[in-house]
Amino acid sequence: MDSKTDAQRMEKIVSLCKRRGFIFQSSEIYGGLSGCWDYGPLGVELKRNVKNYWWRVIVHERDDVVGMDGAILTHPEVLKASGHVEGFSDPMVDCRTCKARLRADQVIEKKGVRQCPNCGGSDLTEARPFNLMFQTQMGAAADESSIAYLRPETAQSIFVQFKNILEVSRKKLPFGIAQIGKAFRNEINPRNFTFRSREFEQMELEYFCRAEEGMTLLDYWLEERLKFYENIGISRDRLHVKTVPDEERAFYSKGTYDIEFDFPFGRQELEGVAYRTDYDLLQHQKASGKSLEYFDEETKQRFVPHVVEPSAGVDRTVLALICEAYSTDEAPDEKGKMETRLVLRFHPRMAPIKCGIFPLLKNNDQLVAKAKEIVGLLRAHMNIFYDESGAIGRRYRRQDEVGTPFGVTIDFETLGERDAALRDTVTLRERDSMNQERVAIKDLAGILSARIS
Ligand code: GAP
Repeated sequence: MDSKTDAQRMEKIVSLCKRRGFIFQSSEIYGGLSGCWDYGPLGVELKRNVKNYWWRVIVHERDDVVGMDGAILTHPEVLKASGHVEGFSDPMVDCRTCKARLRADQVIEKKGVRQCPNCGGSDLTEARPFNLMFQTQMGAAADESSIAYLRPETAQSIFVQFKNILEVSRKKLPFGIAQIGKAFRNEINPRNFTFRSREFEQMELEYFCRAEEGMTLLDYWLEERLKFYENIGISRDRLHVKTVPDEERAFYSKGTYDIEFDFPFGRQELEGVAYRTDYDLLQHQKASGKSLEYFDEETKQRFVPHVVEPSAGVDRTVLALICEAYSTDEAPDEKGKMETRLVLRFHPRMAPIKCGIFPLLKNNDQLVAKAKEIVGLLRAHMNIFYDESGAIGRRYRRQDEVGTPFGVTIDFETLGERDAALRDTVTLRERDSMNQERVAIKDLAGILSARIS
């Protein structure tokens, strides 16, 4: 096996994602829509947990950041000013033999001859720029004036609304504007499951500052973002910081880091943290003719702020979480025989379901009634799952497989039938260690809330 890639592991992850309802191919029953994915019942919970935690630490827990939610359909002038209409493209090559469309960097070169990675043919076109934006038409007229674009990044609406938000929020520099939302890119070759999609979500922060603070804030935000990934359960050893070299950096950026993760298909970018200088605001100021200056009350100076941008992908973070969590170990079955257990070791904060609730027997009215009472108690605090079917060991396994960190079993001791002191207590099982502890029902919500927060 190649130490850097593990195709088998990736295949198993993709198959689990479908089998357990994390991620499905979009429009699957019609043959699939390439580069588009639908999140199922568990995937949507995982995705929401990622976005909610990002919003919590970036917006709610800070005094210097406010949020916004901009439109997806974007005025062409915005994307002309930002440089996307002219330059947001990948070099593309066509194979005349098998008709494959390739990104130029996918073409293989053997002994000076360019070859198609698909069919091995060498009859390839020259590379030409292919704009990655999706263009659409607004309204009934079908002429130049009706062109609009699906945004290729969420950042531009933040720059365009900078002045409005500055006025209403009355923030002083440095301060940030955060946004989570869909972005669209007509990727030439979407691949590696959700990693490179045509429709995806971004979590972007534009942190405005004075020019002299830019480089320091770049390093500050890199550290904050690394902490974020660790706090959602991605180990530091699998995260890598790449300092983007001058020749790969956007011409306006004075410094960019890529935060990379060791996916089973190789080390790839999760997030970019870039010091974009005052380029974006200056471009929009020039193109719109509206001032995007900041007035410093103390120094009485007016200037266009600089910006540091941590820009993360929601879908890539979800994929990294699933890849990180996917594991197997050995656990005893109902008869005590050891068997392989598939377990998603999600951090409790990210797990789609926080707690499984299991009456020992489904045909015992008292056990079922008690279990339903616990469902009612916990539901207000977290996403729970009630399961009464099959042997208890099987029910644990089903939850292990989707990463549920806790399981509560309601047994005859809960009813006080064996030992009055144990009345109204339950077994609380932890997914990774499989340890079990006896906990009073009245303490359950508090104990679990503390462990998943
Ligand atoms: N505003 C800056 C910007 O958009 P980017 O590096 O092009 O920078 C930022 O994108 C992040 O968005 C990436 O690090 C990645 O997580 C995510 N992203 C970009 N293209 C993507 C795609 N085709 N599919 C999934 N996620 C993508």
